[in-house]
Amino acid sequence: MKSALFTIIAGIPNCMIIKHDISLKPLNSFGIEANAKTFSSFTTVEELEEILSELPGASPIILGGGSNILITGDLDRPVLKNEVSGMNRTSEDEDYAVVKVGAGENWHGFVNYCIENGLGGVENLSLIPGNIGASPMQNIGAYGVEIKDVFDHLNAFHIYDKKMVRFNVSDCHFGYRESVFKKQYKDHFSIIDVSFRLRKKPVFNISYGAIQQELETQGVKELSIRAISDAIISIRQSKLPDPKKIGNAGSFFKNPEISASAFSALKDQFAGIVGYPLENGNVKLAAGWLIESCGWKGYRRGDAGCHEKQALVLVNYGQAKGKDIFGLSEDILQSVYKKFSVMLEREVNLL
Ligand code: EPU
Repeated sequence: MKSALFTIIAGIPNCMIIKHDISLKPLNSFGIEANAKTFSSFTTVEELEEILSELPGASPIILGGGSNILITGDLDRPVLKNEVSGMNRTSEDEDYAVVKVGAGENWHGFVNYCIENGLGGVENLSLIPGNIGASPMQNIGAYGVEIKDVFDHLNAFHIYDKKMVRFNVSDCHFGYRESVFKKQYKDHFSIIDVSFRLRKKPVFNISYGAIQQELETQGVKELSIRAISDAIISIRQSKLPDPKKIGNAGSFFKNPEISASAFSALKDQFAGIVGYPLENGNVKLAAGWLIESCGWKGYRRGDAGCHEKQALVLVNYGQAKGKDIFGLSEDILQSVYKKFSVMLEREVNLL
């Protein structure tokens, strides 16, 4: 059964629909206007399998919350939106509870569930946009915590072998905004659910200076995961643009890692340069500082811009195309390289 606009896959309980020429504007946090030639969504592995069987030979793009992508043009590859839901406590002992979450659930919704149930570990990751499925892919992190710290395991469906595979923490090769799903297995798997190991007796992480300051400002006398979450929300809202109001995908670039000797040479030339020593002896540079020093902070070209409060974040003021944002990012990369001989890497996935 096929019409010009959509195909209904018969015999499936939810009667999934394969649609054609669908606007992705509401489905990416940059708010970029671009079309998917073929589009569908799934809520279970079975539905995903059925859709894939209708698209033989295709190499689909699995779409989550759309909060870490830059779409640079219309997409010919089928776009399949992951809407697997559910949040259940699957096991627990005296100290920990394991919560299994569907890949299509909203990340901050899960953080709220943990706070309401007194489960510690993800409060520092409050208000990160996007869905659960993307969290291990990026090894999302903020304010001293990364998802690898609370990760138990995940189940993913291999799109070409058509089978479920379990990944434990060591299988994921988590790094700074990295995992096997971002490079080695890029586009091979659709993550179906992720299980997190959370503390029933929370251990607070307020090592990040800004959190302590914010807790003081809010007059917090007794630490709790809710107080930390509220502080993080307040910090994020004060400097990161709300994607519902101004299109963006959070940090567009990664903070680059350089050797201690390269850092000391830069420090001689640029006294204010910001870097954090790492355990491996290298130094992580604050890319926001490098970009700001090149004069880009608050810069706007048409509807593409560099955010006025956080230079790491590129923004779409309304009608920017993916190519406009990409072009701006290229110019930023080149100017940072010219001034500091440091090549930035994009954190956002280009489609
Ligand atoms: N800085 C500037 N100018 C700027 C921005 C930053 O000089 O415009 C310097 C300042 O010295 C500041 C330092 O950079 O003290 C660090 O800035 P910030 O605390 O805002 O953190 P970041 O390194 O810029 C990273 C993550 C954020 C995360 C924050 C807090 C990356 C790529 N980004 O940003 O993650 O929220 O730390 O932990 O690692 C994201 O991934 O989308 C994201 C927002």
